[in-house]
This record gives sequence, structure tokens and C-alpha cells, in this order.
Amino acid sequence: MQTEPLFVAFSTQKGGMGKTAVTVLTASYLHYVLGYRVAVLDCDFPQHSIVKERKRDEGMIIRKGYFSRMAFEMYSTGGRKAYRVKDSRAEKAIEDAQEMIAASEKAYDVIFFDLPGTLNSKGVVNTLATMDYIFTPVSADRFVLESTLQYALMLNENIISMGRGRLKHLYLFWNMIDGREKTPLYEAYENAIEELGLSIMKTGLPNSVRFRKEMSEDKNSIFRSTLFPADRNLLKGSNIDELSNEICEILRLKKDGKE
Ligand SMILES: Nc1ncnc2c1ncn2[C@@H]1O[C@H](COP(=O)(O)OP(=O)(O)O)[C@@H](O)[C@H]1O
Ligand SMILES: [Mg+2]
Repeated sequence: MQTEPLFVAFSTQKGGMGKTAVTVLTASYLHYVLGYRVAVLDCDFPQHSIVKERKRDEGMIIRKGYFSRMAFEMYSTGGRKAYRVKDSRAEKAIEDAQEMIAASEKAYDVIFFDLPGTLNSKGVVNTLATMDYIFTPVSADRFVLESTLQYALMLNENIISMGRGRLKHLYLFWNMIDGREKTPLYEAYENAIEELGLSIMKTGLPNSVRFRKEMSEDKNSIFRSTLFPADRNLLKGSNIDELSNEICEILRLKKDGKE
């Protein structure tokens, strides 16, 4: 039985690729839909955007009638309590995670770390090396791809191949895919990625406005929330369910230990 939680980060040097968005969506799916015990360490100092997002989500419950009813139903029907979101710094994230693990009565399955893209200190590199798995979002833009591959190769060569730290594997995945089909362009890129000895996930995420937090407040349905699972209708076609399931397979999360 696995007792230690797995450490997972969506990480890339490139800003705006979806690290924070995918962290929230995946954490919520694993916690509220699949029933794993999850926590999020928001290490993106000083923005701390997930900590702020949680505060906004809590504010919406108070302001909006339907949210409070939904919250009531969740908590009163044995629904799951919200996962913990804690602010931290990349340099002390592991220490904070260990403290959180020690303080919790029940064991966590997965702790997600939202890390800054800059590798400007030894502390950040050590924290990255202490992840069990890293998932790197990338888009099919030549320049984004080139710099992301450099980043992935650097981690592969300096951390994974050297056996330093906990990091077992890095997986790239496509984010913001335009169009429904995988085009020959993606196939060509995937061949190049594999030739470099890197792995790319089967599931990619489409480019879709529902990923943008700013869109969700005036709608009646929820997609991206730190407090609630995504509505089924919005989940459809988002690939967040497929991506989460593929991640669970990679992490070899136990199927029977869910609450
Ligand atoms: N698949 C997607 N489709 C559309 N917008 C997306 C997608 N993924 C992320 N975004 C949006 O792109 C912007 C940057 O994402 P964010 O998660 O903040 O990036 P990062 O944390 O890597 O800097 C956000 O507005 C986010 O909602
Ligand atoms: Mg971010």
C-alpha cells in the first residue's frame, strides 16, 4: 500500500502555457470526481494565483444563491470537503509539504505543486528534482516547442538520467490544440519528440474558452473551480477527464483506496 503521497508538478519555463489552469482542473477532478485525497501547494510567489482563486471561489458561494445551495447539498450529502490550497515558495515547498503531510490525519494521495517557471535558484531546482512526476504543457508553435524541448531535455539529462532526486519521469502534453483532429503537424512533432527520447501523453487539451477562469463567474455552470467538480456538460470535449485518467495510470494510483 502506498502511504506517501506522490509529488506532481505541471512545469515549464514558458509562461502562459496552462500550468496553473491544468493544476486546478486536474486537482479538482482527482479530488471531487475520482475521490483521491489531494492538496495543492501554490508556490508561484508573489502572484499566488491558486490561493486567490480559492478565495474568489469561496466568495462566490457567499454571493450566489445557487452556489450556496450546491455547497449545502455537497456538504450535507456526504460530499467531499474541499482540498487544501496552501501558499508556499518554491525554495521551501518540500518542507511545507512534509509539514502538511505530518499534520494531516488521513494520508494524501497526491500533492500538486504550482511552481514558477524560472530556475533561478538551487532551491527551485531541488524542488523540481523532488517531484515524482513532471507534466509539461506545450503548444504546437515552433518557438514554444523549441524552448520547451530544451527545458525537458535539461531536466531529463541533469535530474532523471543522473538519478538525482525523486523525479522518475517527465511527460509532455499538448495544450491549446486548435481543431478537433490531430493534424499531420502534431504527428511530425511527436516523432521528433520521441526521437529525442522524450515522452508525450496520448491526451492533449483543446483550446477552449471554458479554461479561462475569467469566463466562469456569470455563467450558471461550473467548469474550473477549486471547490466543485466541473459540470458534465462542460467536461465533455475538454479532455480533462481523459488527461486526469491518463495521469492516474502513470502515477499508478490505487483504484481501491479512494474515499
Ligand atoms: N486549453 C486551454 N484553452 C484555452 N485557454 C487556456 C487553456 N489552458 C490554459 N488557458 C488559459 O491560458 C492562460 C494562461 O494559463 P495559466 O494556467 O495561467 O498559465 P501558466 O500558469 O503556465 O503561466 C489562462 O488565462 C488560462 O485560463
Ligand atoms: Mg501560473
